[in-house]
Amino acid sequence: MGTGLSWKDRYGPWALVAGASAGIGEAWAREAARRGLNVVLLARRAAPLRRLSGELAERYGVKTIVLPLDLSRADSVEVLARRVRGLEIGLVICNAAAIPVDPFLERGMEEHLAAMNVNVRAPLALAHRLGAPMLARGRGGMVFMASLSASMGTARVVHYAATKAWNRVFAEGLWVEWRKHGVDALACVAGTVDTPGMRASNARSMLGAQSAEAVVRASVAALGKRPSVIPGWGNRISGFFMERLMPRKLMIQLLGGVMERMYPRPDVKGPLSGNRRK
Ligand SMILES: NC(=O)c1ccc[n+]([C@@H]2O[C@H](COP(=O)([O-])OP(=O)(O)OC[C@H]3O[C@@H](n4cnc5c(N)ncnc54)[C@H](OP(=O)(O)O)[C@@H]3O)[C@@H](O)[C@H]2O)c1
Repeated sequence: MGTGLSWKDRYGPWALVAGASAGIGEAWAREAARRGLNVVLLARRAAPLRRLSGELAERYGVKTIVLPLDLSRADSVEVLARRVRGLEIGLVICNAAAIPVDPFLERGMEEHLAAMNVNVRAPLALAHRLGAPMLARGRGGMVFMASLSASMGTARVVHYAATKAWNRVFAEGLWVEWRKHGVDALACVAGTVDTPGMRASNARSMLGAQSAEAVVRASVAALGKRPSVIPGWGNRISGFFMERLMPRKLMIQLLGGVMERMYPRPDVKGPLSGNRRK
C-alpha cells in the first residue's frame, strides 16, 4: 500500500522466518536482513540457523534470534510467543512445511496430523498471535507459502496440496480484511523451486525450477500490491492454463499423471494408467 513508509519502517524492526534453515526461508532471512530488519530464525535444526545468524550479523549488522522449534508440536506457537515476547515483529514469513510425497494412505494418521500442524495450524496461530499487534500498529506484513499444487487436487501430494490451498485462500482472505488496517498479507504460489527439500524429494525432473532468491524477489515486489503472486512467467502461464482454460477434471487427471512420472512407484497404478474412460 502507498503509505510513504520505507520498507524497513513498514515491515520492521523484526522479521520472523519460519523454516529459515534452508531453501526459500533461508533466502527470505537474507533478504529481510539485507533490507535492515532484525530476524528471528526458526526451524528444527539449530546448527544451520546459528551459521545463518552469524552470517547475517556479519554481513548486514542486524540482530538475530536463533529459535530451534518443531512446528509439528500443537503448542509450538505458544512456545514461540513466549520466546519473542516484547519484540515488535512487523514481517512474518510462514514458510516451513512438511511435504510427504506418497499415495495418501501410505502415511499414518499421526504423520498427517503432524503435517497439518506445520502447514496449517502454525500459520493460523502465527496470524492470530502476531496479526493483532500489527493491526494495532497499523503496519506490517505476512507471507504464506502456497504452491501451484494448491490449484487443484494433486496425486502423490494429496494432503500437502490441500494444505497449500488452505494457505492460499487464507492469505487472500486476510489481504481483504487487513489492508484497510495497513497490514499486507500475501500468498506466494510457487512452482518448482530448487531447494534442498525439493532435491531430497527425488523428483525425476526439476524442469523450469526457479531459485529461492527469485521466489523471494517476486514476493517482495508483490507484497502490499496484491493478494497472491505466482513467481516466474512460465508458472504464470501454467497457472492460467490450469485454473482458467482447462476443464478441471481433465487437469486433475493430467496433473496426476505428471506427478506419477515425477515420483514413479512401480507397485501403484496411476490415475492415467488404467482409467482413462472415467
Ligand atoms: N521447493 C519447491 O519446489 C516449492 C514449490 C512450491 C511451494 N513450496 C513451499 O515453499 C516452502 C519452503 O519450501 P522449500 O522447498 O524451501 O523447503 P525445504 O528446503 O525443505 O526447507 C523447509 C524449511 O522448513 C523447516 N521445517 C520443516 N519442518 C519443520 C518443522 N516441523 N518445524 C519447524 N521448521 C520446519 C526446515 O528446517 P528444519 O528441517 O531445520 O526444521 C527448513 O528450514 C514450503 O512451504 C513449500 O510448501 C516449495
